[in-house]
Amino acid sequence: MGAWVPVYGGTRPYINLDNAASTPALQVVEDAVHEFLPWYSSVHRGNGFKSRLSTHVYEQARAIAAGFVGADPQEHVVIFGKNTTEAINKLAYRLPLKRTDIVIISGGEHHSNDLPWRNRATVVRMDVTARGGTNKADFERLLERYAGRVKLVAISGASNVTGHMPDIHWFARKAHQAGAQIFVDCAQLAAHRPIHIGKLTDDGHLDYIALSGHKMYAPFGTGALIGRRDTFSHGTPEYSGGGTISVVTDKTVDWAMPPESEEAGSPNVVGAMAMARAMQTLQGIGLEAIASREAALTAYALQWLATVPGLQLYGDTNPERAATRAAVIPFTIAGVPHGLVAAALAWEWGIGVRSGCFCAQPYVMRLLGLNRAGQQRVRYDILHRHRERAPGLVRISFGLCNTTDDIDRLVEALAAIAEGTHREYTVDAATGEYRPKGAKDNFEHYFSL
Ligand SMILES: Cc1ncc(COP(=O)(O)O)c(C=O)c1O
Repeated sequence: MGAWVPVYGGTRPYINLDNAASTPALQVVEDAVHEFLPWYSSVHRGNGFKSRLSTHVYEQARAIAAGFVGADPQEHVVIFGKNTTEAINKLAYRLPLKRTDIVIISGGEHHSNDLPWRNRATVVRMDVTARGGTNKADFERLLERYAGRVKLVAISGASNVTGHMPDIHWFARKAHQAGAQIFVDCAQLAAHRPIHIGKLTDDGHLDYIALSGHKMYAPFGTGALIGRRDTFSHGTPEYSGGGTISVVTDKTVDWAMPPESEEAGSPNVVGAMAMARAMQTLQGIGLEAIASREAALTAYALQWLATVPGLQLYGDTNPERAATRAAVIPFTIAGVPHGLVAAALAWEWGIGVRSGCFCAQPYVMRLLGLNRAGQQRVRYDILHRHRERAPGLVRISFGLCNTTDDIDRLVEALAAIAEGTHREYTVDAATGEYRPKGAKDNFEHYFSL
């Protein structure tokens, strides 16, 4: 935030429009890390003062994470890990699934909420609407068709591609009525909307959720899986070793209770502390206030992006519905490859965005209208090192640091790119990366080890 970055022929203040990928560290989070580091020591095992303090802070972080989503420590457990992806893989391992069991996902999932389920059960996808939204009618049809076999519904609380936010508590009620549980991937929700996991007696409760610290202003390597304590009170953890057991003999193992059984090895105390400080800060600002500020930015951006010649928006394009979706906007510019748009924004305007399929290839290919044959062509191209032909979108996503000035500068830049006044770029076919002819990075000037 506030950094000047190199652009072709000089420097410019950096504009981060890639908050859906990772958010910068909040100053208060950075300060907390510096303040805590002199006290950092091993947790759960040491008797020294620093170990006891670190254990206290780690468990405080767990309580804060539980409170952040309204979890009840009697019913729920907070399991710290690296990130959302790790959390979903853990859940996929720990749920007692069989190959013939059905996991329903949406057609708009991130690969992290798709691939782990493929390894464990039969995945069926509900259709997405033309605008990339979840199709409730199709969901109800799937529940009926697979009645008795659906064990889990796994959907994102907010899409990392279109910002679509399904009515997760409606899906939860339907899943529970069908005898299934629900997992909600909250990677894109946690820093932008309040999350209510709900009591188990409430029909609309969420059984499990996952989130990542690096998407909530605490990029220090911690995420969390929060969910039903009973699920983790039985069975064998996927990783075993130090910290996971109650007692071990040469021949026997008795596992500890969750969360200890689920956090093998020395945990990331600093990361958990940082994520908890970020959660406190977000709650202090107020997630409703954050949501309404981001909705205003989204509405403003949708209005102004629509004025760029040749720019096509994807997802819900109506600024009046900005409050019902997350602040993530995908688009393309006619005649300009998505990778070139993103490169020109970075190299000439100092604007950081992302382009491509955002780890959601099936969804993006659906949004782009690629049929099965088209998808196979894409697969062939990528496997044969022709990534420059890979389809994709450009994505902007807002966070706490963005203002309407950022959007004004983006729109100015996109209008110039659409007119073709950008520099000359070359593309590397193997990676699909565009860069201005002859341009070199000067990383050493900024940071180096
Ligand atoms: C919706 C969604 N789910 C899961 C993930 C994976 O998150 P992580 O990389 O922190 O594991 C992401 C990351 O972009 C995401 O946007």
